[in-house]
Amino acid sequence: MAYSYSRVLGTGSYLPRIYVTNQMLAKRLAQNGIETSDEWIVARTGIHSRYFAAPDQTTSDLALIAAQRAIVAASIDFQAIELIIVATSTPDFIFPSTACLVQDKLGIRNGSAAFDVQAVCSGFAYALAVADGLIRGGTYRNALVIGAETFSRLLDFRDRTTCVLFGDGAGAVVLTESDRPGMLASALHADGSYAHILCAPGHVNGGVIQGSALLHMDGPAVFKLAVNVLEKVAREALTKANMSADQIDWLIPHQANIRIMYGTCRKLGLPVERMIVTLGEHGNTSAASIPLALDVAVRDGRVKSGDRVLIEGVGGGFTWGAVIICM
Ligand code: UT7
Repeated sequence: MAYSYSRVLGTGSYLPRIYVTNQMLAKRLAQNGIETSDEWIVARTGIHSRYFAAPDQTTSDLALIAAQRAIVAASIDFQAIELIIVATSTPDFIFPSTACLVQDKLGIRNGSAAFDVQAVCSGFAYALAVADGLIRGGTYRNALVIGAETFSRLLDFRDRTTCVLFGDGAGAVVLTESDRPGMLASALHADGSYAHILCAPGHVNGGVIQGSALLHMDGPAVFKLAVNVLEKVAREALTKANMSADQIDWLIPHQANIRIMYGTCRKLGLPVERMIVTLGEHGNTSAASIPLALDVAVRDGRVKSGDRVLIEGVGGGFTWGAVIICM
């Protein structure tokens, strides 16, 4: 029997071991002759600190702990997970997928499907929408959806316009089939003609990296596009869910820049108190930023059962998307 909805049964997250404040980063950059300051970073982005993975921590290690916490919060047996999707642009390997590595580390031996979704900072919205469709279609009953990144490994610490923005982390949710409303609507988009404005344009050929394996971003171009698409896609998801913005209890935007986040919140007519902000402490953790923020807000008691949450992401590709969830 196909159920009408998938719904969130539990959330979890994990931040890796190395805590880096703006001041610490500024000192590190100064050693390379690069000038930045806590004042600039806070004023232009809203970021105060971020976490970096320790040298022995991989994306699947971060994902594993977030997943374990989500499964415990969901109170289901690990072996009941039938589908694992990891949204990441910083996989452990070219292949196999990070999701397969997480399945193994979790000790799940039930033949669950496992694959990665690559939509950069919109990845978690994409992964949630895919899992929702597969559950509602009756293919799987329980899914683990993870956003996990080690963007610190892609950063060029000689480029102050990008290296001060990103951090590492992981967030996860367990989704289950349900006959009571859970995921209410989603809207996903991409425009590949903007691939060049945010990319890590390298590939491996004969064991050698061709092109650049470091992150490149035209910040102002991304900023302009983000502001433009985020309001539109939020309204599109609201229309699909037959809801107005004032029926949203919590806005959880991708945590990239506080000015973009406030702008979207204002355009939707939502009070800023209804927006979950973890950017200041976490930085931009790409596909992990939304599930990390969701888990923080669930655990501190702000997001409660029955609350309607609008999540929205925007990132490289160019990709963007929004999902409305009744918790
Ligand atoms: O996660 C995917 C989505 N990503 C985003 O949404 C990011 C979108 N873009 C942004 O958030 C912003 O564009 C940035 C935070 C990346 C940059 O902020 P901005 O206000 O657009 O600054 P800007 O690039 O226009 O640069 C302004 C000035 C420049 O100096 P001049 O040319 O005016 O002399 C930069 O060189 O700030 C300078 N600058 C810095 N100064 C100190 C750039 N980075 C730094 C820095 N420290 N780290």
